[in-house]
Amino acid sequence: MAEQKRTYVNAYYRLNSGEERKLPLTSSSGDLSSMGMMHPTNSTNSSRDDSLASDSSKTELSDDLRNSIVHRWTHNQSIVCLVCSPKNGLLFCGTQDSYILIFDLITFQKLSKIKAHSGSVLCLHLADCETILFSGGSDSLVKIWNISLSNKGHSQREVNLLPTHTIYSLLDIGDIFSVTWIESTKTVLFGAQNASISYVHLGKITKGNADPASMPSNRYDRFFDSIGRGGSDCSRQSTPPSGDFGEEIDYQSLPVSRLIEVPSCNIISYAHNGYVYAMNVISNIDAHKSLLGGTIPEEFNDIILSGGGDGVVKLWGFKDNKMTLLRSLDNSEPVLCLEMQEGDNYCTLYCGLANGSVNVWDLSTYQLVRSFEVDKGDIGCLSLSQNLLFIGTQGGICKKTAITESPVTWLPSHNSCLAMYNFKMNGVYYLVSASIDNSVTLWNVSMIDRSCNKTQNNNESSVSINMMIEVLKKMISFKTVSKQPARYIDQSRKCASFLRLLFKNLGAVKSVLLPVADANPVVLATFQANKHSNHDKPSRILWYGHYDVIEADHTDAWSTDPFELTPINGYMYGRGVSDNKGPLLAALYAVADLFKSNSLECDAVFLIEGEEESGSYGFQDVVKNNKDLIGDIDWVLLSNSYWLDDNIPCLNYGLRGVVAASVEVWSDKPDRHSGVDGGVSREPTIDLINLLSKLNDDSGKVCLPNFHSTIRELGDDELHLYEQITKKVKGVEIDELMTKWRLPSLTIHRVYVSGPGNSTVIPHAATATISIRLVPNQDIDEVKRILVDYLSKCFEDLHTENHLKVVITHEAEPWLADTKNVAYKVLYKNLQDAWGMDPIFIREGGSIPSIRFLEKTFNCEAVHLPTGQASDNAHLSNERLRITNLYKVKEILKSTFNKLPCKMI
Ligand code: BES
Ligand code: MN
Repeated sequence: MAEQKRTYVNAYYRLNSGEERKLPLTSSSGDLSSMGMMHPTNSTNSSRDDSLASDSSKTELSDDLRNSIVHRWTHNQSIVCLVCSPKNGLLFCGTQDSYILIFDLITFQKLSKIKAHSGSVLCLHLADCETILFSGGSDSLVKIWNISLSNKGHSQREVNLLPTHTIYSLLDIGDIFSVTWIESTKTVLFGAQNASISYVHLGKITKGNADPASMPSNRYDRFFDSIGRGGSDCSRQSTPPSGDFGEEIDYQSLPVSRLIEVPSCNIISYAHNGYVYAMNVISNIDAHKSLLGGTIPEEFNDIILSGGGDGVVKLWGFKDNKMTLLRSLDNSEPVLCLEMQEGDNYCTLYCGLANGSVNVWDLSTYQLVRSFEVDKGDIGCLSLSQNLLFIGTQGGICKKTAITESPVTWLPSHNSCLAMYNFKMNGVYYLVSASIDNSVTLWNVSMIDRSCNKTQNNNESSVSINMMIEVLKKMISFKTVSKQPARYIDQSRKCASFLRLLFKNLGAVKSVLLPVADANPVVLATFQANKHSNHDKPSRILWYGHYDVIEADHTDAWSTDPFELTPINGYMYGRGVSDNKGPLLAALYAVADLFKSNSLECDAVFLIEGEEESGSYGFQDVVKNNKDLIGDIDWVLLSNSYWLDDNIPCLNYGLRGVVAASVEVWSDKPDRHSGVDGGVSREPTIDLINLLSKLNDDSGKVCLPNFHSTIRELGDDELHLYEQITKKVKGVEIDELMTKWRLPSLTIHRVYVSGPGNSTVIPHAATATISIRLVPNQDIDEVKRILVDYLSKCFEDLHTENHLKVVITHEAEPWLADTKNVAYKVLYKNLQDAWGMDPIFIREGGSIPSIRFLEKTFNCEAVHLPTGQASDNAHLSNERLRITNLYKVKEILKSTFNKLPCKMI
């Protein structure tokens, strides 16, 4: 077994950055007890807070508020209305550019994009059954959709909106601002720009014979479509701009759904003296009668509330397909939105007004009981959740305790709010909001106001899934950059301690930190099988991972704070989310779920290091010294690489090795002035460059003697795997894959010089950092020897008075697995089941120093399951991980840990 040697020529260790490694060995500082494993809080200072601090009166940035953002989606146009179906876990968004977008509330992926109207989709309503959706548009049409859900293979849900009815009016009613539905009488009602309210009974359909081309929406109207002097036509677009993404279904090209014409007797032309902005229905009026002060005449079962640009809220009784005006509540200012609150003995109506105020009406007495000003300008939307009133204004969203007098608190969202919707799913209260910057945000209301968190979540799987994301958030907040110990040693220690406690809290029998001299500790944790079948002893699986990350210093290249986990458009962004904190948590929660449900059938040993990105410094010694504590191991399992593209799941069976070195040339003389002394002696930098030029030939091929002679021959089986890949993955060439995966390469990473680096100084020393990627069956010790010998010989040939020093900074052996072993078979099947397609076997050009070492140390085989996609950007800016991949890998691992047998040896 190759000893891990840090230096080859000289016995000191220097990082690529030139930073000397002097780490205190004393164990971590700890605010561990307060770390709150069940509710990790985010302790980083986000740089994005600055943008929010512009208006300090609106800035309340408690951790709870920032952490309350569950997800954020973006579109290329504004989203103007929203509804959610918690039963189906779906979010529907109506867009300014005529689409309905559908998002998955479990995986956060976009599922569908449907061209719904020929203008903006201005309002949406979901029937209580959550299978019928109503949309109203600026094309003056109301459309009714059947929501159909199916599973596309195993991988993704598919949602379709099947248009069932299109409702039009012969009158030109302009934009449709509000739509609602009375279930008991199967009546659709909608309020429009021309101040009318129309309604249609769906049971008794008046058959329309209109030609869609001649519908009001397709006619020019002098009032609605006129262009003022010098103005532009921003009204009803017949061909809206096309979207940028996704599956797009143009239902307008499908056979037209049933056309229904609104009977003229069902149009209340001047329901208001202004636009009808909002409509609500109180159904089943019997139950509410006492709340409404006994003032509603007996015969009405359903009450309609409408809010208009005339400042009036009207209460209408609905019976026998007739609307009867019962009450008018004057607000003096245009009423833009309505929200009802029904308590045990009260019924309250909140009206959002155009002057920035909210009026609160008691509907038992029809008295205005409170009015408060929140902002200047429109109150565009209101939403009541858990006794919290959320108020959407031009300045953002604020919340206040409903009913009682209380101050408002602003959420960290400072763009004009266009729409809100609240719902409860799996016991958790959510709010979803759309803002003028084209984004939609999903908030956890319980996090916004923990005092509201009365209902405990009893759904096991959703608890652990949410918990996994919460813990990932915490993990990302630790800046565990192993290459910069001077800056981040405390963060790395805290992260290691956090992990140790996490393992313990999730059920590990043993969870300890193994100190590493001059480096970050290794976390060792063991879960014991609850039960095991068929064998004398359970198999013992070792999960290898790392909690350290590569630096993220160029923050301008990042769109978000690299150390604050940020969920956007189905992805999570943050340094280390894919490499390697996300995959680590997928494995941990897979095991923890099994353990908690009493079904863990193997011993799971987690060995998580904090120096992988620095060449796994110290890891091998620590593992060798603690071999007994770790115990016997049957399989090594890890996930620390990526798919070949973004679509096809992969299994990895090979990695290149690496030998990294620093090459320094120095002179006995100090830095000198190039004008005064230039030309007198040989310059170290020039010697170094001459030396480096000998490493590759003109075509870039590595020039070390005997370097290529041991490379493993290409077998038929292997060629077959490459052919399979190029058949399935578009845009990849066999030659390029082979060059990256099975051929060696040499890179010069950096050349740096002593002195100030200005153009008048001759540096007295120059250093290059280089690395060589190795492949099977190159011997690492042999390559190190060849490299040093070759450099020394070339240096001698330079006949210079300067000196050379070569230091090996880190090394990793190449790794190649047997794709036919039991573990790959189990994984292959589990990947097929999870993704609904056949995975491909791939290799990688990158290196993981510990894999081959662990195989040799525990006399077992390693299997490698990539988690992330090719576009994850590991080591680069905007590193990310698709949430679906994290969930799927967790599920795949749940069925893998239990199925790996003991080794046959
Ligand atoms: N996850 C990578 C390994 C990797 C890189 C896999 C590229 C697939 C493609 C790992 O965290 C890593 O960065 N390894 C280093 C190791 C080195 C410091 C010895 C590498 O490959 O540079
Ligand atoms: Mn890495």
